[in-house]
Amino acid sequence: MMKNTVIDVRDLSKKFRIYHEKDLNLKYAFINFLTGKKSSYYDEFWALRNINMDIKKGETIGLIGENGSGKSTLLKLMSRILFPDEGYVYTEGKIAALIEIGAGFHSELSGRENIYINGSILGFKKKEIEASLEEIIEFSGLERFIDNPIKTYSSGMYVRLGFSIAINVDPDILLIDEILAVGDENFQKKCLQKIDGFKSEGKTIIIVSHDLTTVEKMCDRVFLLDNGLVASEGAPVDVISDYHKILFEKEEKALRAEQIEKMPAAAPPQEDESPAPEANRWGSKEAEITGIEFLDERNEKCDVFKTGDFMKVRIHYEAKERIKKPVFGIAFYREDGIHINGPNTKTSNYDIEHIEGKGYIEHIINSIPFLPDTYLFTASIYDYSCINAYDHWERCFKFSVVESERIKERYGVFYIPSEWRHHGQ
Ligand SMILES: Nc1ncnc2c1ncn2[C@@H]1O[C@H](COP(=O)(O)OP(=O)(O)OP(=O)(O)O)[C@@H](O)[C@H]1O
Ligand SMILES: [Mg+2]
Repeated sequence: MMKNTVIDVRDLSKKFRIYHEKDLNLKYAFINFLTGKKSSYYDEFWALRNINMDIKKGETIGLIGENGSGKSTLLKLMSRILFPDEGYVYTEGKIAALIEIGAGFHSELSGRENIYINGSILGFKKKEIEASLEEIIEFSGLERFIDNPIKTYSSGMYVRLGFSIAINVDPDILLIDEILAVGDENFQKKCLQKIDGFKSEGKTIIIVSHDLTTVEKMCDRVFLLDNGLVASEGAPVDVISDYHKILFEKEEKALRAEQIEKMPAAAPPQEDESPAPEANRWGSKEAEITGIEFLDERNEKCDVFKTGDFMKVRIHYEAKERIKKPVFGIAFYREDGIHINGPNTKTSNYDIEHIEGKGYIEHIINSIPFLPDTYLFTASIYDYSCINAYDHWERCFKFSVVESERIKERYGVFYIPSEWRHHGQ
């Protein structure tokens, strides 16, 4: 082990068995037995493969990755709740692990009794626990409930108790798995302050979290797990950016598949093809939107853009009769529901005398101001009063914006072109 290393993870792999329920069924087992067929009633699955980490004393390490990528499994191996199939984890010093809500708690016993039990599971002597008992209770803010059986506690109260024990028994290494999110805001603040204190005392901390802002703020170094492998490691900003890239690539793939599968309306539908989802569509249909295309600067279809890119939305329509002064309207929504923008040809003073038969209208954005995220798009045709819809497709279309090399902003909704000026001494 290298100097100052307190957690040494070498070629660590962990596999789990996934059991097939149907094969556990007696009937199947019996048939297999009669027919002499060998039943493999489980599959093996590697939750972690060849993980290497060299964590030094005093480092705060972030562990990020999608659900199921192996983060909790790794912490469990570090704290010896689980054991590896290959490789090893070496740790130096007392470890306190906050991995699962209520793990190691006995629900019939009181909070106070659980402090003793949990503390001893963490490897602390009765005296040590006694010395910090008052502090633990005070930090948890559960004075009034501490002698009640903890089966009456809420999930937030469980976390408060677990965290208070782990953090007040003076461990050398603290492992925290996404549990801070359960506590209320004040408690979270208190925990973060305590963790900051830990950092300055030179203790080692590993934080698993989906809250990337906190990870970026608190960690010196971050590991990204993807499907049980370390996909990236290094400075928080870089690794978080790699994580966004992976997520967007996956989203892009899914989007493509989804659009091919069930969104014929994202491209002009064939004559004999009925347009897709009707659930969010209404209107009297004298004029209909027959297709939407998102195009890039080469006029090619595209559903993933970068902040600052050129974008053209082409809205194909067909009017069964002559319609005077129609108004085309669109809207952009972020996937979480924020309505970002909703221009129409009337508010843009772009009056269209009439439409009849087939045609298309284009909305051109020279520089997309949206920051990386997924966006939903609405398209509509209304009469000049903007009250009566001929055809309205509410958030039926989707596209993504990913980080560009040129514009690296990530916080908020919009990119606002601006500049910095510094005036020093
Ligand atoms: N005891 C187990 N038996 C079988 N499979 C397991 C077991 N524990 C974890 N797994 C599997 O291992 C993989 C990694 O799980 P893990 O809990 O480490 O993911 P995670 O990164 O912590 O995810 P999350 O962000 O959802 O907490 C998952 O596919 C999970 O189903
Ligand atoms: Mg987990």
